Amino acid sequence: DFLDFSAISGSIEFILAGLKMTLQVVALAGVLGFIIGTLLALCKIGRMKFLTILADIYTSVFRGTPLVLQLMLIYYGLPQAIGVNLEPVTAAVLAFGLNSGAYISEVIRAGILAVDKGQREAAMALGVPYRQMMKDIILPQALKNILPALMNEYITLTKESAIVTVIGVTDVMRRSYMVGSNTYAFLEAFIFAGLIYYVLVMILTLLGKVIERRMRRSD
Ligand code: ARG
Repeated sequence: DFLDFSAISGSIEFILAGLKMTLQVVALAGVLGFIIGTLLALCKIGRMKFLTILADIYTSVFRGTPLVLQLMLIYYGLPQAIGVNLEPVTAAVLAFGLNSGAYISEVIRAGILAVDKGQREAAMALGVPYRQMMKDIILPQALKNILPALMNEYITLTKESAIVTVIGVTDVMRRSYMVGSNTYAFLEAFIFAGLIYYVLVMILTLLGKVIERRMRRSD
């Protein structure tokens, strides 16, 4: 048969179990990326030239090289460089978090600059300290602006997470490949994996829309 899903029916659970790895990598890398991205964005818009340059170099390097290379460099190269052996999942979270931080920093930087400059001027005129102004006035408004772009980044992260399979993380991608190799039903196994990623992306898309609507209502 061209498509015979009964060939993988005994392996559905096995592939689905990879969701735990996939979600773990995406969630942890997402948080790490957000933290790094925020710090980098603050460096970029701040007055310290040195930090601005460092943050720009960071972004340029992580966006200018393939993510799969960064992943392999961290997993296979770090033991050689500093003698630490990372678990594949840890290396994956690190690589994806560092990479995403570069992208998120640009999103947040643009979001901060898009906040009306009258807000900044008013805060400064009132003598609000820089840190407090950022934390209580600028960042909350910037967050609202960046939500769609941020959601996009998390969607990208979810799909790109499939490359962790190259360092042996048993995520949805790797498990579907294993099932394909064992049953020769590659087509069915990969279509099923595709369905899982698609559903994940649809959930994120929906979630973004709901949060956006809620934020608009609070305007
Ligand atoms: N495929 C691209 C690369 O390898 C994706 C990079 C990750 N993108 C992202 N928004 N975090 O460079």
